[in-house]
Amino acid sequence: MNKRFALGKFPRTRLRRNRQFPWSRSLVSETNLVTDDLILPLFVTEGKKIKENISSLPSIKRYSIDKLLKKIEEVSEYKIPAIALFPYIDKKIKTFDGKEALNKKNLICRTIREIKKNFPKIGLISDVALDPYTTHGHDGILKNNYIANDETIEILSQQALIQAEAGADIIAPSDMMDGRIGIIRDTLDNEGFNKTIILSYAAKFASNFYGPFRDAVGSSKSLNKADKKSYQMSYKNSNEAIREVGMDINEGADMVMVKPALPYLDIIYKIKKKFNIPIFAYQVSGEFSMIKFCEKEKIINYEETLYETLIAIKRSGASAIFCYGALDIAKNLKNE
Ligand code: PBG
Repeated sequence: MNKRFALGKFPRTRLRRNRQFPWSRSLVSETNLVTDDLILPLFVTEGKKIKENISSLPSIKRYSIDKLLKKIEEVSEYKIPAIALFPYIDKKIKTFDGKEALNKKNLICRTIREIKKNFPKIGLISDVALDPYTTHGHDGILKNNYIANDETIEILSQQALIQAEAGADIIAPSDMMDGRIGIIRDTLDNEGFNKTIILSYAAKFASNFYGPFRDAVGSSKSLNKADKKSYQMSYKNSNEAIREVGMDINEGADMVMVKPALPYLDIIYKIKKKFNIPIFAYQVSGEFSMIKFCEKEKIINYEETLYETLIAIKRSGASAIFCYGALDIAKNLKNE
């Protein structure tokens, strides 16, 4: 045996010794989760006094702006550092080209302004992609049955700009087009927004776990049976994720996202080893709903299981996590 890696031998060495007491387990714990690691995704809809359930995403709601502000009071009270916003757009406003995304008075821009006015200290992450706005539910411009990359990124850079103007702190392109980080960075810089942060969804996989989210933003019906495999990554690949992240860093990304989270811990780990850039992980709707539906069936304990998944995500190398249960976790952490 290589002496440098001598591991000790039973019975002199007993790894269970350190596991005996809660305090000794705390002292040797290699990973910790704090409220500062959490980001709460929130869905916003038009109207007043609206709080709608999403049947495939238990306990999560769509809020009209007034109710959303009430919800954010809780975020502020429990000191969750940031929120991520996603709009539910009325079907009548959706178009083939998704041009509502560029309306400076659209739902998301109005929401950003209201939140910033009322909660200037909470980090506000805004999604850049066309899927809530297009009749076909894709993240970009559809031409000859293909999402046209270069036309889409022009539009995305304008979408990013109006969100930054409205007050978004972090612009988060979730579309997986090539070259969008560079063009968004240039557009923001040219218009005086060189302080606006870009969180690139760099390694976003064409996943089955997004189903409940698509219900939440109302794109599942539009998408019908189509998939996003011509732009989102294949879940069979991990070297490709490294190339995606490397290119996005070169284009000016400040942070990168891996999404989904729990089935992709190897990707987070690999990126962490290779690059010095903050990695965020998105525990997506399907991951969350599975835990929630298991709770309903009394198969598992919701909070403890959720906590375990978040620790696993951090252990793999993530510095922050988008989590639908962020408030539940923050409440528990406060009571500890
Ligand atoms: C689309 C987008 C998706 C999610 C965030 N932004 C879904 C998709 O790519 O179809 C999924 C998040 C979740 O499932 O919680 N721009």
